[in-house]
Amino acid sequence: MKRLSTRALLTRYREGERLAMVTCYDATFARLVDAAELDMILVGDSLGMVVQGHEHTIPVTLEDMIYHARAVVRGSARAHVVGDLPFGSYQASAEDALRSGMRLMKEGGVQSVKLEGGGRVVESVARLTEAGVPVVGHLGLTPQAVHQLGGYGLQARTEREASRLLDDARSLQEAGAFALVLEGIPAPLAREVTASLSIPTIGIGAGVECSGQVLVLYDLLGLDERFKPRFVKRYAQLSELVTSALGDYAHEVREGRFPGPEHSRER
Ligand code: KIV
Repeated sequence: MKRLSTRALLTRYREGERLAMVTCYDATFARLVDAAELDMILVGDSLGMVVQGHEHTIPVTLEDMIYHARAVVRGSARAHVVGDLPFGSYQASAEDALRSGMRLMKEGGVQSVKLEGGGRVVESVARLTEAGVPVVGHLGLTPQAVHQLGGYGLQARTEREASRLLDDARSLQEAGAFALVLEGIPAPLAREVTASLSIPTIGIGAGVECSGQVLVLYDLLGLDERFKPRFVKRYAQLSELVTSALGDYAHEVREGRFPGPEHSRER
């Protein structure tokens, strides 16, 4: 099976298809995502929260990202895999970004990388693209800047901020980004950005008119009953299913009903 390249994704976008993307962090889920024929997998640094149990994405390292990217790439064969460059791996210089992007592609096996921010990362996007590392940009609510933003609220609400975001989007496209994640911005602004670019926008909490959508896998599967922001739609309630299955298992072990003879061998 052939993986979806950036070229194949751009063809789909130009033909008016919406791109479906989800985050993923391990081989088992990657196999299931591939079976459902999603276009793109994001090995997101959201793994800092959903896998590692941190409060935010800041502690995630490049080594963590490479480890999880390898697992996702091993588990999938069809989807285009994007790897997040984590906080601290690209902000200091374009050289850092280039080195980190190359490592994530070479050692993690991803087909492209994503980094957060506007003007300050434009040079890095250009350097990565020139070096053959396809880049996805990320504007709006950029979780690695949580301490600066003061939380995870809606971004770019004033005219000035909206106009800056639009400029940043154009600059990222100009620098070579082949797609752009728009997170946590008003729907009319996402519509305007999408209409003004010739690369796909992938929305999360950015309204209905982006060229594609991304959700955190654990959110869409309902794996954490404590977390349900407005932009998330739960397509399953796996936390209930998992808790109930584990409860049944514990009960049967305690009652001596598992394992049964059918799970045992005499020789
Ligand atoms: O890390 C992540 O999961 C992300 C998505 C929310 C876009 O960056």
